[in-house]
Amino acid sequence: MANFRRIGVLTSGGDAPGMNNVVRAVTRAAIANGVEVVGVMGGYHGLVHDEVKILSARDVSNIVKDGGTMLYSDRCLEFKTEEGMAAAVETCKKYNIDGIVACGGDGTFRGATDLSNRGIPTIGIPGTIDNDITSTDYSIGYDTAMNTVVQMIDRLRDTCESHARCNVVEVMGNHAGGIAIQTAIACGAVDCVIAETEFDEEAMYEKMIRLKNDGKRGFIVVVSELLPGYADPAFAKKIQERTGIETKFARLAHVVRGGDPTLRDRVTAAQMGARAVKELLAGKSNLVVVEQNNEIVTLDINFAQTTDRIYKGKAAPEEIEKYSAEEQTIIMATVEKKRQYFRDMTALLAEISG
Ligand code: F6P
Repeated sequence: MANFRRIGVLTSGGDAPGMNNVVRAVTRAAIANGVEVVGVMGGYHGLVHDEVKILSARDVSNIVKDGGTMLYSDRCLEFKTEEGMAAAVETCKKYNIDGIVACGGDGTFRGATDLSNRGIPTIGIPGTIDNDITSTDYSIGYDTAMNTVVQMIDRLRDTCESHARCNVVEVMGNHAGGIAIQTAIACGAVDCVIAETEFDEEAMYEKMIRLKNDGKRGFIVVVSELLPGYADPAFAKKIQERTGIETKFARLAHVVRGGDPTLRDRVTAAQMGARAVKELLAGKSNLVVVEQNNEIVTLDINFAQTTDRIYKGKAAPEEIEKYSAEEQTIIMATVEKKRQYFRDMTALLAEISG
């Protein structure tokens, strides 16, 4: 075991239900191994501005059931500057923080790499409702967010049915359509618009008119946010004009990010938090803890980020060339698996939404 005095834990980026469970698991696992824990407030902001506090096992009591994050969260721009990073390293030295566990999305992982490169071993845990980190099948917060959307859409369905209306429902996800496509299937939506697959607008209008003539009264169309022309009340107006079905628009926005974590998020957070501590204490650094095929495993954080950038079309061709042929095959298989997933889910929705 590396000679650890203290581990820091932080939550960064958009908050996600289950982050508290990560904080709790990291704290309890570290203390169980004789290592103290420092909670860093407001993500990397707390490191840059010396806002930290020692966490006891009791400090993390009762947060197991709470949404949000007791450590607060932020997207810290200062941390991206040389001065900000130097200040963060100084804070780690001042409080004898020998390693950090950082829970968040891809921005958080970039920060984790920066810290590791400056001599502070850091391990990332995926925590974002968007589930948009390509190298992990699952990110903490996704399940809770989707269950919240299901509850909201079920309510809209009730009133759509009573009034023979359609509701367009915009859900979060950044540029990822996971929340939208899964909840569309779960809530019996007639269609779903996401960035990952083609959307045939004319076919949807035809289908809605056919179903209306067949006696269907209530309609739900789920739209992933940030899609020009669709994540927009004007889309509801257009549906109404084209189908003759009165159509409302609902943007669920940050409602989707709050709420008590589901069992799935609590357990995954506990597994990933404890695993991150184990890896740090074994002297590992610059890793990300991920879930692949129902197993919790670790990956090199740069490898994970390259995989993510390739999936998102942000990688220069030479980025993948630094990896071996075998690693390149793994990267491309991961990317293709994710693309196929969205094609399959879109096809499933089309098949059963009649
Ligand atoms: O990444 C999580 C997320 O909720 C996205 O789904 C959304 O696009 C974004 O954060 C919203 O960010 P903010 O909380 O800064 O408005």
